[in-house]
Order: sequence, then structure tokens, then C-alpha cells
Amino acid sequence: GSIIRATSSSSSPSTTIAEPEGIKIKSIPTKPIEGQKTGTSGLRKKVKVFKQENYLANWIQALFNSLPPEDYKNGLLVLGGDGRYFNREAAQIIIKIAAGNSVGKILVGKEGILSTPAVSAVIRKRKASHLNFFFASHNPGGPEYDWGIKFNYGSGQPAPESITDKIYGNTLSISEVKIADIPDVDLSNVGVTNFGSFSVEVIDPVSDYLELLETVFDFQLIKGLLSRPDFRFIFDAMHAVTGAYAKPIFVDKLGASLDSISNGIPLEDFGHGHPDPNLTYAKDLVNILYAENGPDFGAASDGDGDRNMILGRSFFVTPSDSVAVIAANAREAIPYFKNGVKGLARSMPTSGALDRVAEKLNLPFFEAYGPWIQVPTGWKFFGNLMDAGNLSVCGEESFGTGSDHIREKDGIWAVLAWLSIIAHRNKDKKPGEKLTSVSDVVKEHWATYGRNFFSRYDYEECESESANKMIEYLRDSVSKSKPGDKYGSYTLQFADDFTYTDPVDGSVVSKQGVRFVFTDGSRIIYRLSGTGSAGATVRVYIEQFEPDVSKHDADAQIALKPLIDLALSVSKLKDFTGRDKPTVIT
Ligand code: G6P
Ligand code: ZN
Repeated sequence: GSIIRATSSSSSPSTTIAEPEGIKIKSIPTKPIEGQKTGTSGLRKKVKVFKQENYLANWIQALFNSLPPEDYKNGLLVLGGDGRYFNREAAQIIIKIAAGNSVGKILVGKEGILSTPAVSAVIRKRKASHLNFFFASHNPGGPEYDWGIKFNYGSGQPAPESITDKIYGNTLSISEVKIADIPDVDLSNVGVTNFGSFSVEVIDPVSDYLELLETVFDFQLIKGLLSRPDFRFIFDAMHAVTGAYAKPIFVDKLGASLDSISNGIPLEDFGHGHPDPNLTYAKDLVNILYAENGPDFGAASDGDGDRNMILGRSFFVTPSDSVAVIAANAREAIPYFKNGVKGLARSMPTSGALDRVAEKLNLPFFEAYGPWIQVPTGWKFFGNLMDAGNLSVCGEESFGTGSDHIREKDGIWAVLAWLSIIAHRNKDKKPGEKLTSVSDVVKEHWATYGRNFFSRYDYEECESESANKMIEYLRDSVSKSKPGDKYGSYTLQFADDFTYTDPVDGSVVSKQGVRFVFTDGSRIIYRLSGTGSAGATVRVYIEQFEPDVSKHDADAQIALKPLIDLALSVSKLKDFTGRDKPTVIT
């Protein structure tokens, strides 16, 4: 890797500090680098930043410095990524630093590839120790674009803030990197390489994960649907990591035709695409599904395979509706949930559609805890609830859906969940009989529970200072507001900046989003994204509940128009950011 070459050829002397395990470990002097604070989900920067001397090495070493040695010494670690540019180089650097810190063994996906959900599955199956890395994001890849690293802890969940804060602290005081003097490992062949007592095993990225999914779903049921001539399926891997999974799972196991997979080869630059499955960045797939006589079912996943988008023919399923529909149908359509779901949860900005399902299912979880069905944005907040045995299905409006089969959201899981529901509804249909479609399932759901109209406006790459000022202004408005205040035709129930207390470990996180909640249940929420890599991304979430079935067919943008206008005026968004329209609407 470039970083290692740069440091070992520099003039600073490196001293050998230990050779206990048959490998030479060097101590490389280094200096703190500013700005290595992790956001919603790991550290994300431009590739160029990560390639700066010792940038990655410092952060990795700071991470080891933040953990109790018993969590990694002689332990087993998992390493993998979404196939983006710089992954292979980074893998070599991390392997050497891990060996330098006395890790016992590393499992790494072939070619450095492992989807985020597959990493979580491998960690759980192989009982890997508490520390596991992967490189991923949903942002574009390539020399000019983004790179990111996150790590999971404990039972395979993203690391909590208590640890990431510690790492950040250590990046500011770091003075040496411990690195093993070993050659680069061949990542292109499955197998084990030993270096003294340290070893690296290159694993097939699909098998452990697929084995797990086969215990969750009824593959025969799904296969029955995918082999029907009157059901057409398309999966867009966006030239990202799920390309490595789509053929083995959908084609080889489930009988889909090979041409139902598009953009199925993982590429380092994702074919110049932006592998984030939403209405803007997965436009090609959307066009196919909305074309005349399009397929019956379309789905896409993101760069690292944890997000998903579900489409029916000429129909988009919002992520907030998706998790609610899956939860409502889980018991009858998915064997993993045959005894019912334990609990349901969503992130705070996600619509309340899921709450209505929870109420109806009358879950013990919901009765006991009610409000903590809402966690802050970030999958990591679900982990404790799952470990405590209280949570089965959860989701976020940001195209994340999943369950406690692993500790990450899972794009392919969501697709299989939807296919299971459609397959279950149609299993007795004869050829020629009209199939129950994706839109039929969603509309039926709305008729039962009411519809939560929902939309999110994103303003990407705003100037950080003005975005922060806008949030400050909103916090100030919150402190001056009181219940009963009029906002146009809406009456304020309450306004706040969301604070979450984890019911399992009691930890508290505050400032998680400014909310204006009105008496009719409508909500406007404002947050700054924690996953951007340049400037600030302002997110505005708008939601309105509609019980009246005759109004359910309305376009969300039209139904929400008055509330969207209100959201823009309440925040003075245009004045603060200078933007008159969002860059992405979902
Ligand atoms: C990642 C996280 C999610 C989060 C999403 C958006 O995918 O894993 O949990 O919802 O990013 O986060 P942001 O802070 O950008 O709104
Ligand atoms: Zn992702």
C-alpha cells in the first residue's frame, strides 16, 4: 500500500519493538491529523484525503488504542468492503497494522469484497472478536471521489459513540503506528496464509451470508414466484457490491433469469454511477419500471449492499411504507418470523406507518416501551434493542430495512422479504390468473392502516456555516414555541430537538433533529446529514397522515405541498442556504 511505502522510505527511523510471534513489528513515528471524527456511520472523506501519508494508518492505530487489548489481542477480525477504488490498498495497510497490534487472525473477503450485511453475518457465524472493519459508503467511488471506513463491535453492530469519541480523542494525540513487516497478501485466491502466529484467511464473500438467508426465508416459495412466466423481476446492483451476490442468490439459487440482473459486475468506480438506490440516483431502474409494460418487480441496492429500493410496476414503495408492510406480513410470509415479531422500531424521521402496525399487532415491546420505537438516525441505535431480544424488524426512511438476523440493515434481505410477500400472496394463482402486485399490497396496507404521506428533501453540499446557522435558528424557534401556536392552518402540538435515551444501557444522545409536530399528527423535521463528505447536507422530512381511503391515490408531492411550503418558510431555508430547490427528493 502507498502509505506503508511512504513511511518506510521516509527518513524517520523506525525501531523494532517486538518480535514475539515470529514477525517483525515496527513502530513508525507519526503526528496527529485533524478532522478524523466519525459521523453517522464511520469516517468518510475523499480518497485523496485517505491517501495522505499516515491518514488511514493513524486512524486504524487510534482505534486499536481505544479498545481494551483483550478485545483484539490474538482475536479474530473480519475485513471487507464494497469493491470501491482504494479498497485493496487499504486492506493491505489494515492487515499489517492489525498484525502489528497482535491480532491473531483476519478473515478477508476475496478481492477485499464483502457486503456490509455479509460482514455482519460472518462476524456472528464465526464468532469473530469485537472488531471488524469495512470500507463502504453509498457515495461515488474512484480516485476523485469518496472512501469510507466503519467498524463493527460486539455482536456485529456498528460501534457506539462512546467508542468513536474515544478514537477521535486518540487521533489527536497519536505518536506511533505499530505495523508488521510482512508482504502484501494475495487477495485473489481463497485460502489461508500464515505469518508466524498471525494468519490471513481469504474467504468466499457469499457463502456464510447465503447460508444464513436460507434459514430466514422459504427459498422454494420465492423460487416458485421467480420461475413464473407471468412475473418479471429485475435487480439493479448499480455496479456495486451486490453484483457479487446477485447471480449466486437470485439466479443460481432462486432461478431468476440471468438478464434480470443489471449492472451486475462490481466496479471500482461503480461505472461512474452514484450507487445510492433512490428515485434520483437509480433513475435507470425507475424508468424501466415506469415504462409501458415494464417488469412486475424492481429492486436495487447501494454501494455496500445494506440499502434497498423496492419498486412495483409504475409504483415506488417508500422505505417508510416498506418496513411497515414487511412487519405486517412477516409472520405469514417469512419462516424466520413464524412465531411473530418481537418488536418493531424505526428511526425518528421515518414515517409513523410502522407505529400503526406495532399498535395493531399489540406487541409486548410496544406496550412496555411505547416511545422508544423511535431511535435517532443511524442503524447502530437498533443493536442494543436486538441484543436485548426486544426487536425483530426495523427500518429507516433512508432506504434501510432489516431484522435481527444480523446487526446491519440488509438490502438483499429486504428484496427477499418483498419477494416472499408477493410469492405468498400468489402461491395458489394459476397461470393466466391476475397476480397480486406490489402496488396492490401497499394500497391494501393503506386501506387497513391509513396512509402516512412522506417525503424527504435533501440539499446536498451546502455551505456548512450557513447550514449550521439555519439549525441554530430552528433551535431558537423551538425554544420560543409553545403548544397551540398556529403555523398557517396547522396547530403546534410540540416542537423540540430530539433526544434519545437508550432503554437498554441508559446512554443519552441529544440534538438528533429539530421536530415540529402538529395536532393532526403532521410533522416537519430538520437535520444535517452525518454521512456527507463535503460541506453540509440539509435534510427536511415532511409527513402527513391520511385515514381517508379515497385520498390515498394522491401524489405525495401534491398531498404534502402545503406542509412542504410551511417547512421552507419556518426554516427560512432559502435565505440561509441560497437554495431554491433540493438536489434530491425521495
Ligand atoms: C447510513 C446509516 C443510516 C442512516 C443513513 C443516513 O446509511 O447507516 O443509519 O440513516 O446513513 O444518515 P444521514 O446522517 O446522512 O441522514
Ligand atoms: Zn450502504
